[in-house]
Amino acid sequence: MTEIARGLRDVILTETRLSMIDGTAGKLIIAGFPLEDLVPYATHEEVIYLLWNDRLPNKGELEAFRRSLIENRSLPETTMVILRAAAERKLSIMDALRMGVDTLSLVDPEYEDISKEANMRRGVRLLARFPIIVATYWRLLHNQALIEPNPNLFHAANFLYMLHDEEPDPAAVRALETYLNTVIDHGMNNSTFTARVIASTRSDMVSAVVGAIGSLKGPLHGGAPGPAMDMVFEIRDNAAKSGKSVEEEAQIWVKTRLDAKTRLMGFGHRIYRVRDPRADALGTAAEKLFEQTGDTKLYTDARVVENVILKALEEYRPGRGLNTNVEFYTALVLHGIGLKSQIFSSVFAISRVGGWIAHIFEQYAEDELIRPSTTYGGDYDRQWVPIEDRV
Ligand code: SDX
Repeated sequence: MTEIARGLRDVILTETRLSMIDGTAGKLIIAGFPLEDLVPYATHEEVIYLLWNDRLPNKGELEAFRRSLIENRSLPETTMVILRAAAERKLSIMDALRMGVDTLSLVDPEYEDISKEANMRRGVRLLARFPIIVATYWRLLHNQALIEPNPNLFHAANFLYMLHDEEPDPAAVRALETYLNTVIDHGMNNSTFTARVIASTRSDMVSAVVGAIGSLKGPLHGGAPGPAMDMVFEIRDNAAKSGKSVEEEAQIWVKTRLDAKTRLMGFGHRIYRVRDPRADALGTAAEKLFEQTGDTKLYTDARVVENVILKALEEYRPGRGLNTNVEFYTALVLHGIGLKSQIFSSVFAISRVGGWIAHIFEQYAEDELIRPSTTYGGDYDRQWVPIEDRV
């Protein structure tokens, strides 16, 4: 009898050129580039272009790609109606994003056309609107006046501008670009798998992307950075109240949760058995940011909390390689840029949608229906009993 691959653990679905994860060595390649050679230097549009075209753009191609994103920022009235309704119910930003993206089918000028060229244009229209929907919804949720997109600002900078109604600090834009580049693609993670499963039935790109948003929302996947930041703040608050050190309060906090079998957000990974290389890439970006803003205390406190957790996890699950994953430093970078923890998952989506669309292109080209099997564990030969004879 074939062994059940619960959670599809260690199952290889397909071959991709988009990213390579070495979970043992703690290495990540993004479309041929070692993570650390790409993410701190590239603009986010360059990395999206790289994934979608398998090469970096030249100057003219980058300008044209950036212009196409700028030209596709307007939100249809129906999208605004849905976002306003969601804000009235105070729905989460991920739910509002999912509902808003769904409405974009209403304004697809080539709705029936599923050619590669039409899907490339569709990908631009979808990706361009992710930051617009998130920034718009954030301001609706907080009863703030809506800010129109600034055509002189590129993808990442315009998002910060629409969120905060001020020209963003170049250091914050660089840190956000580094973050967006770092998390754009990561092998067959759950949300990418979801997008590919939907695309494998030859369903449309909006359906596949909306399904992926639903997956990313989950706390075991993209929902982790918010709680990871809240954890650091709670431990710091406890230390301020008790007079104990951050380290002592972290030990108390972590022991309570591990004893209760609670999973610590920002740690552990299905593939990495060592430190997630993205944690280092983002750790460097966070350190640079906090040095510039002068709040290095938060950064050093977070490192203290991290070391306490790593020690505790080794005692709790010796040899399981439970290490820092991308989300712990995601939390620090996004907080350092001035974002609140409730928005973190949707900023993850603003990046990962570039990877989902690249994988959707791959799945369409592969044109293979994804359909795993099950073994049957139920009864056989049950007899039908009419309702009047049943007890
Ligand atoms: C992302 O797939 C991707 O690539 C995802 C991602 C991407 O870029 O798309 O990298 C982004 O999702 C990062 C992960 C964000 N999630 C969190 O930080 C949530 C906390 N992490 C855990 O829930 C967990 O580590 C997972 C979900 C990430 C991985 O789950 P696995 O594969 O089931 O973990 P495992 O098999 O290595 O666990 C071994 C043991 C288990 O205990 P037992 O079954 O032996 O009793 O360690 C425990 C787990 O319960 N464990 C943890 C833990 N992670 C695993 N215990 C406490 N805290 C944790 N964080």
